[in-house]
Amino acid sequence: MKRILIIGSHGMLGQDLVKVFEADQNWEVFAYDRNEIDIASEKSLREKIERADPSVVVNAAAYNAVDKCESDEIEYELAKKINGYGPGILAKICADTGISLAHYVSDYIFDGEKGEYKENDKPIPISNYGRSKFLGEEEIQKNTDKFWLIRTSKLFGKIGKSPMAKKSFFDTMIQAAKDNSVLKVVDEEKSCFTYTPDLALETKKIIEEQIPFGIYHVVNEGACTWYEAALELFKLAKMEVEIVPVPSSEFPRPAKRPKSSVLLNTKLKPLRHYTEALKEYLDNNYNF
Ligand SMILES: NC(=O)c1ccc[n+]([C@@H]2O[C@H](COP(=O)([O-])OP(=O)(O)OC[C@H]3O[C@@H](n4cnc5c(N)ncnc54)[C@H](OP(=O)(O)O)[C@@H]3O)[C@@H](O)[C@H]2O)c1
Repeated sequence: MKRILIIGSHGMLGQDLVKVFEADQNWEVFAYDRNEIDIASEKSLREKIERADPSVVVNAAAYNAVDKCESDEIEYELAKKINGYGPGILAKICADTGISLAHYVSDYIFDGEKGEYKENDKPIPISNYGRSKFLGEEEIQKNTDKFWLIRTSKLFGKIGKSPMAKKSFFDTMIQAAKDNSVLKVVDEEKSCFTYTPDLALETKKIIEEQIPFGIYHVVNEGACTWYEAALELFKLAKMEVEIVPVPSSEFPRPAKRPKSSVLLNTKLKPLRHYTEALKEYLDNNYNF
């Protein structure tokens, strides 16, 4: 039986990774989150890797408080540890022991000026969060050759299990529509939504098919703005809501977002359209 270690197993993506690997009897799954493993501690990582003795590690742990680490230096240091140096240490341990590593990165490593990005486009982050995620890419590539860097964007799926877990955009919109008859939604920041069960399955495929190591863009098809996605959501949910498109300047936030950061997948088979995945998510989780 093959052995896999999943770090960040209580997160939105992590819990789906655990589900898809545990559903397959060919895999023995070791899954840990913040209470059992610290991605920023070499000692903690070495202990768990020694115990699990995996052939592959998937790291879905991350610091994701985009605005908090923009306005607070201590938080930025933490973001660099969790998203940057920690994954670098993990990569070094994996290289020492011959283990392959899959790790996730964000479209926020791009500045958004070009609009659409291929796997080999040069990252130019414009926020501290983006810089911390790009640092992770650099640290991993510096420390191991056996890596899959999987860039993704706008995740949606079941909320993570931790008390600090963030709801996805679609759950937030559904709640907002229950509380308000008119919603203002940003008609900018075009990028791709990604359904976490689809991303988890694609990760399994990359690992099992031994796709060559390197950088990949894994997102659902159908790039859109937040406003365009909200229109699709309420159409699918058959909810009567008035949605008003607004520029992002209507909701000022500490961290800059890329104007358009569409990740182009030029290396793998495309995933299904996000609206198809969204319909499945709504059918499985809501009773409209
Ligand atoms: N969410 C998005 O829209 C999005 C977009 C692009 C890329 N990504 C990337 O996709 C990956 C998965 O994201 P996600 O949304 O599933 O993340 P998530 O729900 O925030 O889950 C991350 C998990 O990592 C845990 N964690 C935090 N610090 C840790 C530490 N020091 N050691 C071990 N575990 C720690 C968190 O625990 P606590 O909750 O207790 O802190 C949480 O359970 C990440 O690499 C993320 O950067 C996400």
